Amino acid sequence: MNKVTYREDHDLSGVNSLEELKEMALPCKRCALRAGCTGVVFGEGNPNARLMLIGEGPGADEDLQGRPFVGKAGQLLDQILAAINLDRFTHTYIANVVKCRPPGNRAPRPEEAGQCLPWLYRQIELVSPDLIVLLGSTALQNLIDPEARITKMRGQWLVSKSGIKIMPTYHPAALLRDMNKKRPVWEDFQKVRDEYKIIAEG
Ligand code: URA
Repeated sequence: MNKVTYREDHDLSGVNSLEELKEMALPCKRCALRAGCTGVVFGEGNPNARLMLIGEGPGADEDLQGRPFVGKAGQLLDQILAAINLDRFTHTYIANVVKCRPPGNRAPRPEEAGQCLPWLYRQIELVSPDLIVLLGSTALQNLIDPEARITKMRGQWLVSKSGIKIMPTYHPAALLRDMNKKRPVWEDFQKVRDEYKIIAEG
């Protein structure tokens, strides 16, 4: 298993609950994205989840509803989770690399992600999951390595400095565009299910 490090330094170590962190994040204007969106989509799920899912950033539906993964890609994600007997609210916590919708759903720029990542790093610390699934290349490149390719890295467990097992896989939106990705995503989530079972039973 590849040992990986991601930048975990941030100025939010004193924030001790997700509620408090959310209150702080909602008025965030650290980057220009906030001016062009409806509001901050902080994340949601079980604050004690063993499994955390990390996407790219809110799309149009998420921006309007203030919740992550509620559009078409989110519905597909719910189906994938259901296929491995998991439910987003009970078993997972879901967040994104950036919490404000980039215009036209473009990928977030490095300076935008850089300003936003401290929120995510603290979310990871507070949820303290055993497993993280990185959904797509934006999550992979911003958390692990800007040069990493999702096509090469998907399907292999990585492990963080603090011992979290990390599985990169394709983003569900990529699956909607290219059904050839269905099988690899299924295989990746079966690995997640197997590892989740071990943790849940341990
Ligand atoms: N795509 C993402 O990466 N995140 C969302 O919340 C919705 C779609």
